[in-house]
Amino acid sequence: MNNQRASKALTEAMAECAAVMEKFLKNLLSSRKGYEGKLYSAMSYASLKGGKRLRPFLTLQSAKLFEASEQYALRVGTAIELIHCYSLVHDDLPAMDNDSLRRGRPSCHIAFDEATAILAGDALQVLAFEILSDPKTHPDPNVRVALVKGLAIASGGGGMVGGQMIDLESENCDVDLETISRMQRLKTGALISFSCEAGAILGKASVEEKQALIKYAQDIGLAFQIADDALDYFSSKKIFGKEIGKDFYEGKTTLPLIIIFQRGNNEERSFLKEIFKKKKRNEDDFSETLALINKYKAVEASFKRAEYFVNVSYDALGIFQHSEEKNVLQNLTEFSLNRSF
Ligand code: IPE
Ligand code: IPE
Ligand code: MG
Ligand code: MG
Ligand code: MG
Repeated sequence: MNNQRASKALTEAMAECAAVMEKFLKNLLSSRKGYEGKLYSAMSYASLKGGKRLRPFLTLQSAKLFEASEQYALRVGTAIELIHCYSLVHDDLPAMDNDSLRRGRPSCHIAFDEATAILAGDALQVLAFEILSDPKTHPDPNVRVALVKGLAIASGGGGMVGGQMIDLESENCDVDLETISRMQRLKTGALISFSCEAGAILGKASVEEKQALIKYAQDIGLAFQIADDALDYFSSKKIFGKEIGKDFYEGKTTLPLIIIFQRGNNEERSFLKEIFKKKKRNEDDFSETLALINKYKAVEASFKRAEYFVNVSYDALGIFQHSEEKNVLQNLTEFSLNRSF
């Protein structure tokens, strides 16, 4: 298949997965009467209409490699997507990234209120585990326990939440590439990695096969977050569905800034240090930083790094025999580099 056709097939397959997810989530989060009505509205708002649904797509495709049941994979993918949606609701809160735009719409705490957004996140999180522990997800209790344990590990202190803590702790201070990479692996990589691992669990894959899929997904996760951090500097609000420059204004040290630190001169380094010491950065600070980003080709260099992980990720699938399912996963590695949102 040529590149253009492969990319069209991938886009169609992802859109199909997103449509199935949407239907499933809609049924799951049907509206409630009474005081809890507001909670369920906020949960639906945070999970429906939008999102690339990358994580459930990875679960479905990984499960397909082993011819595991699509119905089971869909339920597991839904659980993972619920954790992801909850993480976004909490990530946008004023106490965290203070973002008012998500998936092109007001963030959950803006559309509702902060307390409701916190509760909606909490409820989405536990709903994920309710789904996984249900016999409809898999008849074998050992498989269900493995899924629950895996998702808990990927989401908790040693995974996504731990990464979010590093993210907050590293605001407004100098961090090195190693710390940033660890943060990216945890806050984004862990859940993406479990998305593939879950497919392997459902498919009763061998240890080697599971490890290969985990490696594949970890590197996709890294490339994905590197691209997200670069897009934060140059995408358009309309396409990205989030405010541009928010990482900068919130004082986050992401890869484009590390690259300026590495390539810039002493004066430029001091300039960046000074503006990151300030409580707030203004539009002039942003324009000057963008000029440095252009001067040192920091976005291009970020994508070069992402490309490295994309290639490593592609190679990790080498142990699988040629199949259409493997092809889709291989084509997906490039997605982080080509995406604009
Ligand atoms: C956003 O994730 C948060 C990151 C890990 C960068 P996605 O880019 O997958 O967000 P949606 O679900 O498509 O909105
Ligand atoms: C978020 O990273 C990762 C999560 C675990 C939610 P970001 O803070 O960069 O994600 P966006 O840019 O808000 O989507
Ligand atoms: Mg964040
Ligand atoms: Mg954020
Ligand atoms: Mg971001």
